[in-house]
Amino acid sequence: MPDLAYVNGEIMPIEKAVVPIEDRGYQFGDGVYEFVASYEGRLFMLEEHLDRLERSMRELAFDPISRSEIKAAICDLLKRSGYPRAGIYIQISRGVAPRNHAITPDMAAQIIMTIRPVKEIQEDIRKNGATAITVQDTRWVRCDIKTVQLLANSLAKQKALDSGCDDAIFVSDQGIVREGTSSNLFIISGGKLITHPLTDYILPGITRTAVLNICKAADLEVEESFFGTETLYGADEVFLTGTVTEVLPVVRIDGRSIGDGKVGPITRRIYDLLRKQALAGGSA
Ligand SMILES: Cc1ncc(COP(=O)(O)O)c(C=O)c1O
Repeated sequence: MPDLAYVNGEIMPIEKAVVPIEDRGYQFGDGVYEFVASYEGRLFMLEEHLDRLERSMRELAFDPISRSEIKAAICDLLKRSGYPRAGIYIQISRGVAPRNHAITPDMAAQIIMTIRPVKEIQEDIRKNGATAITVQDTRWVRCDIKTVQLLANSLAKQKALDSGCDDAIFVSDQGIVREGTSSNLFIISGGKLITHPLTDYILPGITRTAVLNICKAADLEVEESFFGTETLYGADEVFLTGTVTEVLPVVRIDGRSIGDGKVGPITRRIYDLLRKQALAGGSA
């Protein structure tokens, strides 16, 4: 079965899918997206992803779209692909119109989706931990909305790769540690987990919520508070969370070892609990 695309109700092989050149997503970054993954043919936390998609559209004042239509299309793609471990990308742009900053009324939202097998994190990185650099957070100030404007994220990721690391961590001008280029970030200090609170400056990650719930159930102490780079460097353990990232240990940041430079036991435990939940088809 080829990788598939969905374009406004039609399903086709990905290479056949095209969008109009005056799509506002293409010209203005005026679009929102989600990425949802399946485990053994079951989509993990689909309803939570749909909730966030609806919120993103509301925040940008898009005309509402039927949730059941989007959900049916996602499930249909998954079924047709036959992929047990699928990654489904869903993008909704405001619409197509002659290029103009002003938003004209009555634009029809453009809904596109693609489905491919999930590109898993490399086995050695998953096992031994990732390395990261910190970068200045140059993104716009509504990082809580999952828009397609990912240039700063893409450039930061490439900077990390060019410097021989796996990912980059955004740090504000005031020195506050925000999140990864496509993941949220947790640190563990003295047995307590700390992560950035939900503000306009980070994405409300679905995996972040799953991890918070796992910690609650496992009686692990968690705090949502701001912290700086010195606290990050001095943490016992650091990990990133995301739909594909799952729970990924970070063992070296800006050339400094985190803890003893090895994957920590709490990170490993949370990863195992998340995998267990995902494979059981559970929700947060
Ligand atoms: C900037 C950013 N933060 C966090 C996340 C993690 O979100 P989720 O757990 O919903 O995949 C993502 C995922 O794409 C992201 O792009």
